[in-house]
Amino acid sequence: MLVAQISDIHASPDSASLDVLAEAISWLDTLRPDALVITGDLVDDGWRQGYRRIVQSLQSLSCPIHILPGNSDRQDLMRSELGDVARWPSSTGPMHFLSAIGDVVLVGLDVTVAGQSHGDALPHLQWLKDSLADVGGTALIFMHQPPFPIGIEVLDHAGCRNADGLLAVLDTAEKRPLAVLCGHVHRPVFGRLGSIAVQTCGSLCPPNPLLLEGRPDIAAIDAPSFLVHQIADGRLLSHVVSVPVSTPVQIDTGG
Ligand SMILES: [Fe+2]
Repeated sequence: MLVAQISDIHASPDSASLDVLAEAISWLDTLRPDALVITGDLVDDGWRQGYRRIVQSLQSLSCPIHILPGNSDRQDLMRSELGDVARWPSSTGPMHFLSAIGDVVLVGLDVTVAGQSHGDALPHLQWLKDSLADVGGTALIFMHQPPFPIGIEVLDHAGCRNADGLLAVLDTAEKRPLAVLCGHVHRPVFGRLGSIAVQTCGSLCPPNPLLLEGRPDIAAIDAPSFLVHQIADGRLLSHVVSVPVSTPVQIDTGG
């Protein structure tokens, strides 16, 4: 079972992100994953045409596609423009999704907070608890903002709040999810929340520099990237696939 994850395209009329997306999709056309999840921040500044161009890029894929909003997205435009490639169970409210692909269940948890860069798991814990109660196989949780500090101060102010409540739900689920898979920080990062693996997917827009411990002098040399998750026998392996076509930029505190 292969689940591809793309995040943080941040398409805008003057960025190369849509070209990077086209390269990533072309590669995925050959890989033929079983599903694709996009973990938010598809466009900047409510660029309606950007959503339409993303749909055009995605249409060559034959697998199911699931999309979460990020803090940069316009959820009304996502619903009106992305309907040809993605669906959400509810036409209003949080844009969660729940999808069984074989014996793997993909759980999309929309933790975005209107008008804010940070996320918040608290309002969605009951939905998550109820959803996990029905999962008999392996679950993967997808979110936009990660529920752990990355170590880059400006990004950590914009993480997902109420991680303790989230962990309590995950820890007490009859079958604990394999991992929590996020976006938002524009870098691939691998850590844990309690005993549960948490990862962030790299971005298709230019990555953020690794400004650990307040260091202002570390330039970004990374390429845009995405993840391919391989699930077999209840185990998860996540592969980073980079798309080396961008120019490093200053850190994006908006995530
Ligand atoms: Fe974000």
